Amino acid sequence: MKLRPERDEDWWEVEALFDLCFAPGREALSSYRLRDDVPPVGPLCLVARDDDGILGGAIRGWPVRIGAARAILLGPVAVHPTRQGEGLGGLLIRAQVAEAARQGWDRVMLVGDAPYYARFGFERLPDVRMPPPTNPDRVLGLALKPGAWSGIAGQVERDKD
Ligand SMILES: CC(C)(COP(=O)(O)OP(=O)(O)OC[C@H]1O[C@@H](n2cnc3c(N)ncnc32)[C@H](O)[C@@H]1OP(=O)(O)O)[C@@H](O)C(=O)NCCC(=O)NCCS
Repeated sequence: MKLRPERDEDWWEVEALFDLCFAPGREALSSYRLRDDVPPVGPLCLVARDDDGILGGAIRGWPVRIGAARAILLGPVAVHPTRQGEGLGGLLIRAQVAEAARQGWDRVMLVGDAPYYARFGFERLPDVRMPPPTNPDRVLGLALKPGAWSGIAGQVERDKD
């Protein structure tokens, strides 16, 4: 599997992978409202393909705001069911986090299962609120610089800049 940034021609294939891997109606999730009419952060959108070019997994990332603080909203991330459990999800997540740090971002957040994301260092963000209906236990963050989530509280909003 090789990782590389997603290109325009990958878009619909990645969409199909997300459709396969998530429950129907995934775009009704509140996290998608933060992505409406906002372009993803290009270098943080990655695809993993095997030597035959078959898509095994993909990850995207969007900018969001909590008050004046900017963050990366990690996801969607998905691995094809035939390739799950081989470490590809971890590879995609770590690669996005590393690239976000390289680009100078201070913090990453996501909505997901804490037992999975804890292994990458994500912790609950009790003071950060996603648009409803989101289970607050699933709102997780990772500081890319020491203390980057300290004192950050409030509603997550679209970053339209
Ligand atoms: C979640 C997902 C991206 C993980 O990708 P993956 O390549 O299978 O993950 P990895 O191989 O890096 O890690 C596998 C490990 O994570 C665990 N894991 C996977 N999903 C988990 C979850 N939701 N909660 C807890 N643990 C989870 C597996 O049990 C496995 O554990 P092990 O290392 O102890 O065996 C993939 O399962 C997927 O696409 N799922 C459907 C879409 C989805 O839920 N995306 C995430 C939205 S929050």
